[in-house]
Amino acid sequence: MLFTMSIKTFIFLNLLIFISLSPSISTNTSNILYDIFPFIRVYTDGTIQRFIGTDVVPPSIDPTAGVRSKDIIIGPILNLTARLFLPKTADPGNKIPLLVYFHGGGFFTESASSPSYQTHLNSVVGEANVVAVSVNYRLAPEHPLPIGYEDSWLALKWVFNGTEDWIKNYVDFGRVFVGGDSAGANIAHNMAIRVGLDKTGRVSLNGLFLNCPHFWGKKPIGSGEVSNKQVKSVMENIWVRAYPNTMGFDDPLLNPGLDPNLWRLGCRRVLVYVAGNDILRGRGFYYKEALRKSKWKGVVKVVEAQGEEHDFGVRFPNTTNAIKLVKRFASFLNGGQV
Ligand SMILES: *[C@@H]1O[C@H](CO)[C@@H](O)[C@H](O)[C@H]1NC(C)=O
Ligand SMILES: *[C@@H]1O[C@H](CO)[C@@H](O)[C@H](O)[C@H]1NC(C)=O
Ligand SMILES: *[C@@H]1O[C@H](CO)[C@@H](O)[C@H](O)[C@H]1NC(C)=O
Ligand SMILES: *[C@@H]1O[C@H](CO)[C@@H](O)[C@H](O)[C@H]1NC(C)=O
Repeated sequence: MLFTMSIKTFIFLNLLIFISLSPSISTNTSNILYDIFPFIRVYTDGTIQRFIGTDVVPPSIDPTAGVRSKDIIIGPILNLTARLFLPKTADPGNKIPLLVYFHGGGFFTESASSPSYQTHLNSVVGEANVVAVSVNYRLAPEHPLPIGYEDSWLALKWVFNGTEDWIKNYVDFGRVFVGGDSAGANIAHNMAIRVGLDKTGRVSLNGLFLNCPHFWGKKPIGSGEVSNKQVKSVMENIWVRAYPNTMGFDDPLLNPGLDPNLWRLGCRRVLVYVAGNDILRGRGFYYKEALRKSKWKGVVKVVEAQGEEHDFGVRFPNTTNAIKLVKRFASFLNGGQV
């Protein structure tokens, strides 16, 4: 039921459910520091409540997708971990592409162990026949940005160290991709920028996949960002609360169109997915235009799923459009048309 409603209804219902379940908290709002539904509520005493994305499932063997997964530690001191995925058909004599994936959740919620990301990665890995590393970058507000970007960069460098068994035995390092959805797509883009700026040459990417990327900017793009005040304010709250020291909504990390280094993006192939009913739809098209106007030399394409909500590919995995998205993503990872 929940999965057929718009984000606005979803936010509203969460609010209602929450109020009806917690009368002691909702009758006293003076101790709430801030609220970002449907993600988190933070109290003046520092308590943090997450409304979504806290469920976890263990790594598994998924017989339907033909995919195995396992959890590994990248940085024990940082508590930086990842979940790795390997298709059943993997053969050391035939190296396959690697996807380094960053989950969404507004920089505040979700993990590589969330049921929805376990499902999504199993589907993509099974369909594409690639290895995947789904990164548990640390979350705001306990770990405000740029910590999430730093963790993600460390994870990407770790991948190229090539010491982990599955990565060492099965990965073709000439075909490494980064990708993500929503806030995770923002991170994936910023990793591709870092690769472009990196002088060591130790990290190289074949392509970038952005699913409903979480970009923003001071100047509105299209009428939705002006008229939809409620969602606009959620978008803006997410950024300032996740990254208290940001320079604002035109921070190049959030508004790549204003990034003087955009042309250095460290890969030649970019596929962007947008959802027709998503307030972020225009940002995906704007990203493509910005890349085209820059000195960047590569191919970028935007695919629009009409009538869909934000992040439909992860949230509603059984729909026709979500299945199409996985197929398109898989083909992209195998060198198919951008
Ligand atoms: C509401 O919370 C504030 C801050 O925690 C507290 O000072 C106040 O006494 C509470 N009011 C009621 C009616 O519980
Ligand atoms: C480490 O991260 C996991 C989530 O990835 C979290 O559940 C756990 O509490 C963290 N442990 C510490 C010591 O911070
Ligand atoms: C990669 O390996 C080098 C040499 O063993 C080590 O110094 C470095 O910390 C490793 N980097 C990561 C990100 O694991
Ligand atoms: C998708 O379909 C599978 C298999 O029928 C089912 O187990 C799962 O609950 C469905 N997922 C959602 C989000 O509806």
